[in-house]
Formats: sequence, structure tokens, C-alpha cells
Amino acid sequence: MRNLIVYYSLEGSTKYVAEKMAEKLEADILELIPKKSYHSKGILKFIFGGKSAIMAEKPALEDYNIDLSLYDRIILGSPVWASNFTPPIRSFILDNKSQLNNKKFACYLCQAGAGGEKALKKLADCLDIEKFDLSYIFTALYKDPEKDKKIDSFYYMLRV
Ligand SMILES: Cc1cc2nc3c(=O)[nH]c(=O)nc-3n(C[C@H](O)[C@H](O)[C@H](O)COP(=O)(O)O)c2cc1C
Repeated sequence: MRNLIVYYSLEGSTKYVAEKMAEKLEADILELIPKKSYHSKGILKFIFGGKSAIMAEKPALEDYNIDLSLYDRIILGSPVWASNFTPPIRSFILDNKSQLNNKKFACYLCQAGAGGEKALKKLADCLDIEKFDLSYIFTALYKDPEKDKKIDSFYYMLRV
């Protein structure tokens, strides 16, 4: 099965998982980059990012060149923002809606503490699927000494 990992990351946790997973699964990887970057520091990070997530914005993304027809499964990776998935992921899904028909999906989310389950549901709704067969929520990954073991657990789920 050919896998493509599509992710957005502001502060590095989602990126860390994407890169480890791409290596283990021998998957291709696509980082989504919004044309207008989100604030990455202080209170503005929460104000602008939180508003964008709550308003379900669809920010313009930097161009990417990927042939989605090559992949059987798309693995989406996102931080949790205000109990939602991040807006660049919405842009990717809506921009590629027709090409995502009939794909298999998996996803993982990185959160500080809570909201991941709600975000998962919203992400499934955006994809028009009932639920994810395979999903994983990483909590406080940046300070988790077990993070590589948890990434391995997700990898074993994906590999089956
Ligand atoms: C705008 C914003 C909103 C956030 N909202 C939540 C939230 O609702 N629940 C939560 O557990 N963490 C929340 N977080 C924390 C991030 O989900 C967490 O730090 C995540 O690991 C960041 O992933 P990244 O390093 O890939 O950007 C929020 C962070 C930001 C910037």
C-alpha cells in the first residue's frame, strides 16, 4: 500500500511524527505551508490560530506538486487547535475533494491536553467519512519521554 503523509505543524510535534512515520512506513510526505504564516509565539499564537480554527478558515497554501492518484492511503497529521483540526488541513481536503474520493484515510493529532476526540470527529466530517479506522492522539509529545514508543505503536497499527 502506498502511503502519503500530509501534515501541518506550527511548533514541530506534528512534523516530528510525520518524519518518523515517513521513514518507518517508507511513505511520501507533504508538509502544508500556509501562504500567510500563523504567529508562532506568545498570546497572538493562540488568538490568531484559535480564531482561524473556530471560524473553520480555509487559508491559501503554498503550491505543492503531488499526484494523489499514486497513493492508496492518505495519513493526515494536525495539531489540535481549539478542539479542532488546523485550517491548512481543511484547505488541503477542500482543494482536493474529488481526488480524495475512494482513498483510505488514517490520521493523527497532537494536542497539549484535550480536544483531540472532538477534532477527530470534525476531521472525519470534513472528509465525509463516518469515522477513522486508524487514528492516534499524541498528548504533550514535546515533553513525553515515551514519544518514540508511541510513534512505534501508531506505526504498528498502520502497518497491519
Ligand atoms: C491556536 C492554538 C490552539 C490550541 N488549542 C488546543 C486545544 O484545544 N487542546 C489542546 O490540547 N491543545 C491545544 N493547543 C496545543 C497544541 O495542540 C499542541 O501544542 C500541539 O502539540 C502542537 O503541535 P505542533 O507542534 O505540530 O504545532 C493549541 C495550540 C495553538 C497554537
